[in-house]
Amino acid sequence: MDRVRLAIVGCGNISQLNAPGYLQHPRCDVVALCDTMPERATRRAREWGITPRIYSDFKQVLDDPAVDAVELLTPTWMHADQIVAALAAGKHVSAQKPLAISVPEADRIAAAVARARTTFRVTENFLYYPPILKAKELLDSGAIGEPSLVRIHTTRAVQITGQAMDLDPDAMVWRRDPGRNPGGPLYDDGVHKYATAVLWIGEIGDISAIVTRGTDFLAETPAAAIWRFKGRECLGVIDYTAAPEMTIRARYYRADEFFEIHGSRGIIWVTRGTGEMLDMPAVVLIRGSETVNYQVPADWRLGFDGAAADFIDSLLAGRQPAQDIHTAKHILQVPLAIYEASRVGRAVSPDSIK
Ligand SMILES: NC(=O)c1ccc[n+]([C@@H]2O[C@H](COP(=O)([O-])OP(=O)(O)OC[C@H]3O[C@@H](n4cnc5c(N)ncnc54)[C@H](O)[C@@H]3O)[C@@H](O)[C@H]2O)c1
Repeated sequence: MDRVRLAIVGCGNISQLNAPGYLQHPRCDVVALCDTMPERATRRAREWGITPRIYSDFKQVLDDPAVDAVELLTPTWMHADQIVAALAAGKHVSAQKPLAISVPEADRIAAAVARARTTFRVTENFLYYPPILKAKELLDSGAIGEPSLVRIHTTRAVQITGQAMDLDPDAMVWRRDPGRNPGGPLYDDGVHKYATAVLWIGEIGDISAIVTRGTDFLAETPAAAIWRFKGRECLGVIDYTAAPEMTIRARYYRADEFFEIHGSRGIIWVTRGTGEMLDMPAVVLIRGSETVNYQVPADWRLGFDGAAADFIDSLLAGRQPAQDIHTAKHILQVPLAIYEASRVGRAVSPDSIK
């Protein structure tokens, strides 16, 4: 394959960030856009300055022999059926996180991936965000010695300084349906953070958690979970708070996060992610009295561009891009284990979530 002919399926909110990396890739042609509301596809084609085939039915994409690969940006509860159908139709598949809404769905996808001759991955933009990659490079070079704790904090805000993305409220309709969405931010957003922790240290073992459940199904703050990484003397902590009376610096979504990796010889901070809440360099290395700042590119959208480029480059090179199905299933099990641990009041292993 010399070029990749891609269809983008689902032209809703995240397509605004997910598509540009494909549009700018020199060996990718976005040949089709599909949305059950085709006016959304037509609008995106206009915004992106392209003239693709416009489809309103996913089956049309699968029947199009001039589509090599699909990027699925549809509601998460549709992912399993669409991934399985697309692989069966011989398409390469990249699907936005989370992989699916349940472990049986993940197993069904894994079986389809095992049968397929084409490639599957989950699109996880945090794995390509330059500050997170810089932290990985520092960690792997031994800059902080042996890691003992990773902490990932998320602040959810109502007010932000930037314009924010143009978000269609329809995206909250399926998210508010407990039959189609197993949780709030610890699931929908948390998967980014568990994927980051797994990238840095490895798979996640037993988890204890307290998740506050208010009247709003999607409000899960404050919440905190703590785990031990499998086979490592290293703990992970993830915590979420809401700050409805605080305006934070952010441009895309109404949230930001920061990360700490503590080690025997030093500490790494990644001070931003989705937003720019902390007025600090994006990556800081603290080694006793020595502090080193790394001014790496830190616009959150760069993670999406990197994810798109890696999918195309991997298809052209015949290699597996991140995030593979094994990791994606593990990452899905983590928030489900967090919910279960909070419910039963004791530690739960992600592997036990079936
Ligand atoms: N990486 C990130 O930071 C991030 C952020 C937001 C959303 N997401 C993920 O992206 C996915 C979509 O989320 P969103 O917020 O863009 O949702 P959305 O509701 O804004 O967009 C979904 C789009 O899919 C279309 N659609 C529905 N059924 C379809 C079908 N059968 N065939 C084709 N199109 C169909 C809808 O009309 C809509 O335009 C979810 O899995 C979500 O978790 C990822």
